[in-house]
Amino acid sequence: MFSKALLSIVALAASFTAAVPSANKRATCSGGQTTANDACCVWFDVLDDIQSNLFHGGECGENAHESLRLIFHDAIAFSPALTAAGQFGGGGADGSIMAHTDVEIQYAANNGLDEIIEEQRPFALKHNVSFGDFIQFAGAVGVANCNGGPQIGFFAGRSNDSQPAPDKLVPLPSDSVTDILARVADAGFAPVELVWMLISHTVAAQDKVDDSIPGTPFDSTPSDFDAQFFVESMLNGTLTPGSALHDGEVQSPLPGEFRLQSDFLIGRDSRTSCEWQKMIADRANMLQKFEQTVLKLLGFSQSALTDCSDVIPIATGTVADPFLPAGKTMADIEAACAATPFPTLSAASGPETTIPAVPLDS
Ligand code: HEM
Repeated sequence: MFSKALLSIVALAASFTAAVPSANKRATCSGGQTTANDACCVWFDVLDDIQSNLFHGGECGENAHESLRLIFHDAIAFSPALTAAGQFGGGGADGSIMAHTDVEIQYAANNGLDEIIEEQRPFALKHNVSFGDFIQFAGAVGVANCNGGPQIGFFAGRSNDSQPAPDKLVPLPSDSVTDILARVADAGFAPVELVWMLISHTVAAQDKVDDSIPGTPFDSTPSDFDAQFFVESMLNGTLTPGSALHDGEVQSPLPGEFRLQSDFLIGRDSRTSCEWQKMIADRANMLQKFEQTVLKLLGFSQSALTDCSDVIPIATGTVADPFLPAGKTMADIEAACAATPFPTLSAASGPETTIPAVPLDS
């Protein structure tokens, strides 16, 4: 599983690690929780604090969604191509987006992330954990709050030293598929792995592409870690959710739903469309691919970091099998995988409804 590029990410992450983790020692923490390593106890305190005060009692709401997005924007800023050209290529999942927010928030792709960064930073400072570790922890906890959410591993112990990442390393929704594939390939990811990372958009909404309609979700079930995003992104788009289409936006299929141009194109491109469609058929596979690819994105190295995965809560809740939203038929699906037929889905009953916006967290 470890590609050469991944190994270089791992080596890079290791080089940032100042604190050598203490020897593996099963521990009972002061709150009574048990963990594989006593160095992980602090994360139970962080967990209690953020579940109450960042995620409002363990919700899969806006802050959970933004925390997952933040993982990507910190971690994908890693470019062996820039390094080979003699420039600083970014440190990947090193917390630079929180340490150097004044610089990185200027980058177009990071638009809107200042809110979650400013909400998260005081928790990292209060518990004296590094920004890189905190961003990963909050993302893993946040998405575990979603119904049927994944179990992303968590490895702690990164240094808090970082430099600002260079611009143009985070894809924009207006980028071509070729450009997006080239960017993620530079960071060590194959086209199928891009699809696996984009499973995240099943618990997602936009605020800034069209800032007149904040909280407009990418599928009809933004609190469920289900496959609806992969179904609904393949429906024929006929509606404009705001007053006009914006850069990086294409028409969506359902009232109240938002569609990124990049998601539309990646779902229909011959390099990625079959994997996109495959996400609909096998939920266990979808979860496993997401967990695996996010861990790769984080560039973990068990030898350099401490495995605190047992602090991440196990998601609860159930999700429905993939379905066609009410009012749609299979004729509305724009199947794009030449090799395999689109799975046959049944439609929810009742009239077409407007999807409510994800409420903004205070
Ligand atoms: C081709 C790659 C990607 C592009 C172009 C892209 C683009 C976007 C855009 C434009 C938004 C809306 C931001 C806003 O207006 O507030 C968004 C939201 C989001 N993205 Fe991505 N994204 C990509 C990959 C990823 C990946 C790999 C992850 C996580 C692993 C991720 C997680 C999310 C989440 C969770 C949200 C929802 C945030 C919220 O609801 O507030 N994205 N993405």
